[in-house]
Amino acid sequence: MSQEKELNYREIPILPLRGVLVFPYTIIHLDVGRKKSISAIEEAMLGSKEIFLATQKEAQTDEPDEEDIYEVGTVAEIRQVLKMPGGTMRVLVEGLYRASIKKYISHDAYMKVGIEEYKSEAPLKNAEIEALMRTVVYQFEQYVRMSKKIPPETVVSVVAIEEPGRLADVIASHLNLRIPEKQKVLEARDVNQRLTYVCEILAKEMEVLELERKINIRVRKQMEKTQKEYYLREQMKAIQKELGEKDERSAEVEELRERIQKANLPKEALEKINKELERLEKMPSAVAEAVVVRNYLDWALSLPWSTETRDRLDLDLAEKILDEDHYGLEKPKERILEYLAIRKLAKKMKGPILCLVGPPGVGKTSLGKSVARSLGRKFVRMSLGGVRDEAEIRGHRRTYVGSMPGRVLNSMKQAGSRNPVFLLDEIDKMTTDFRGDPASALLEVLDPEQNNTFSDHYLEIPFDLSKVMFITTANSIHNIPRPLLDRMEVIEISGYTEEDKLHIALGYLVPKQVKEHGLKDSNITFSEKALRKIIREYTREAGVRSMERQIASICRKVARQVVKDKNTSVNITVSSINKYLGAEKFRFGTAEKESQIGVTTGLAWTESGGDILSIEVALIKGKGRLTLTGKLGDVMKESAQAGLTYVRSKAEELGISPETLEGYDIHIHVPEGAIPKDGPSAGITMATSLASAMSGRPVRNDVAMTGEITLRGNVLPIGGFKEKALAAHRAGIDTIILPMENKKDLDEVPANVKRKMEFILVSHMDEVLAAALEKPGHA
Ligand SMILES: Nc1ncnc2c1ncn2[C@@H]1O[C@H](COP(=O)(O)OP(=O)(O)O)[C@@H](O)[C@H]1O
Ligand SMILES: [Mg+2]
Repeated sequence: MSQEKELNYREIPILPLRGVLVFPYTIIHLDVGRKKSISAIEEAMLGSKEIFLATQKEAQTDEPDEEDIYEVGTVAEIRQVLKMPGGTMRVLVEGLYRASIKKYISHDAYMKVGIEEYKSEAPLKNAEIEALMRTVVYQFEQYVRMSKKIPPETVVSVVAIEEPGRLADVIASHLNLRIPEKQKVLEARDVNQRLTYVCEILAKEMEVLELERKINIRVRKQMEKTQKEYYLREQMKAIQKELGEKDERSAEVEELRERIQKANLPKEALEKINKELERLEKMPSAVAEAVVVRNYLDWALSLPWSTETRDRLDLDLAEKILDEDHYGLEKPKERILEYLAIRKLAKKMKGPILCLVGPPGVGKTSLGKSVARSLGRKFVRMSLGGVRDEAEIRGHRRTYVGSMPGRVLNSMKQAGSRNPVFLLDEIDKMTTDFRGDPASALLEVLDPEQNNTFSDHYLEIPFDLSKVMFITTANSIHNIPRPLLDRMEVIEISGYTEEDKLHIALGYLVPKQVKEHGLKDSNITFSEKALRKIIREYTREAGVRSMERQIASICRKVARQVVKDKNTSVNITVSSINKYLGAEKFRFGTAEKESQIGVTTGLAWTESGGDILSIEVALIKGKGRLTLTGKLGDVMKESAQAGLTYVRSKAEELGISPETLEGYDIHIHVPEGAIPKDGPSAGITMATSLASAMSGRPVRNDVAMTGEITLRGNVLPIGGFKEKALAAHRAGIDTIILPMENKKDLDEVPANVKRKMEFILVSHMDEVLAAALEKPGHA
């Protein structure tokens, strides 16, 4: 039943094949070009027309030797020979049966080999083979359907094959396999084995096909989508053009797209912004929302997402700049330089935030500006005075009509760099109400753990604030929300002495104002005495703000003169000052012109520095009741009670008559009632006024005092002494009574102030009265 011819040994020309393998029962065209191969075919044509086809192991070998050719091949009949132009031949061959080379006979004109039939072991048709055959046929059908490279008729002819070996051969010949795989099929003597190979190969090929198919689908989908979008966009453009809208809108979108490219956005921002742009593109421009989206994009793209300035960490230069901008302030400058030094050493370190604390006009804001200048960074200032709404810091959600971004990001936009020095001015002036707590939003701004993803409700994309150097300012640390204060390094700046102010005026404020008003140095000069008069009689402040205003107002008036006559040269002197500033606003000298009964000068500390205050006591016929007026706080009222109790207990020693003790009501008043006053530090002052009023002994007018009092007359320490001493000095007072325990604070008082004043340290009220009350009978 085998159709293979029974042939044991024969000699026959061989045609080595490159890259093809011919199976028995298959008909195939071969193009032959090599000389030896052509001779081999010519030789075969002369005889039996049969030739041995064996495949080369390497297709590129030109002159194959015995070992370059597989041993097992196929004996084929040459059906047709066509001579082609260029000396090649096209040969139609039909594979007949397998054979293997036994020996090589000649190598000369053509190769000839001795071969023997390579018999298949074809077992009888058993059930296993039957099953294998069916599987292979089924798989092949599927394969043909999937690959689409083999014509479907092939399947029909394959199904008709009954002989298992032949089935394997035919299918293998149709598959696109590599030569070693085909050779393996060819060399499989056992038909069962051969079918199994084909089965395996088919399974693998189908897997590959399936994968190919999936990849194809994916690629096509992607292409379809892009194409569709492109198509739609073109259509839309056409429609818009018809409507006369096209140009404006698409130019706008184009411009935005360009800006997106330039902005170098972080991934998250890029996605969100692109999405919004797509939205804008699809909106007709008449829609109100288009304006909203446009504004949003415009705004988001103007943020400094990746623009940055290079730090200049040159400490010598920084010091020079700080000195150039500000007189004195040694301590704050030193602290700032230390801070910068640390930043230089540890670039990544997230240091605490500097907080400059001090009365108004001492240069906190301008010091912040100076830090920026010395670092070579951009500077922005955001005032928190009166901020009470979280949305002011963080913005409104875009669902609100007229919603806006918060002030933090607005300032960043203004800075134009993502690492500016950012001054949060007057952080103690924030308030909290029902609209949310601005302090907690601010906390997120300042917290180095969170501020790299600061979220603004309007922007909706996290913004990185971690490279910003924040500096805060406040008048008093008491009003700074505690969690904020914990993150800050406080640098205190205290008020200036008269000498300081004079230096600041001469070296900084006058030159600055002269320049700002467009004046030349030859137009105006200030005498030192005139400046001192401005300090003493036109201002009363811890800082220099109002002095700067006075100087500015003089400059303004001189500028008017200069407009009329370019050669104006004005000398501002003590006598000409009234002409420019009007009458004196403050009286310099002791608070009270002469010693009085029941009136004592006290020292107070407020947010705007130290101040003096008079405490008056009057006795009115009555029943010993105590009245207090002048907006006094509870602590101060209690302090008054304590003072009164002490004075009563000492009535006899002080020469107070029993009638005075019982027959009079007592009225304590602290003038300038608009300013609320509180704290225990006026204790000894009130007690002194009481003692004076009740005993009839006047209080020395050149003395001011501060200290808390206990019921037993002990004097306890107080805070803010330096500011108080400066205020007393400003007011022309030359003696201060202060608690013994505040002795250490004397070190902080500037030397030139200390030299001109007398300080009396006390630990008991008796000492206070001894120093402050004039001797009986003097008045
Ligand atoms: N030590 C100083 N040297 C030079 N100018 C000063 C000094 N202190 C304050 N000024 C100037 O006084 C004005 C007010 O200062 P500012 O920074 O507004 O004070 P603050 O913020 O503390 O209220 C500014 O023009 C500032 O330059
Ligand atoms: Mg300020």
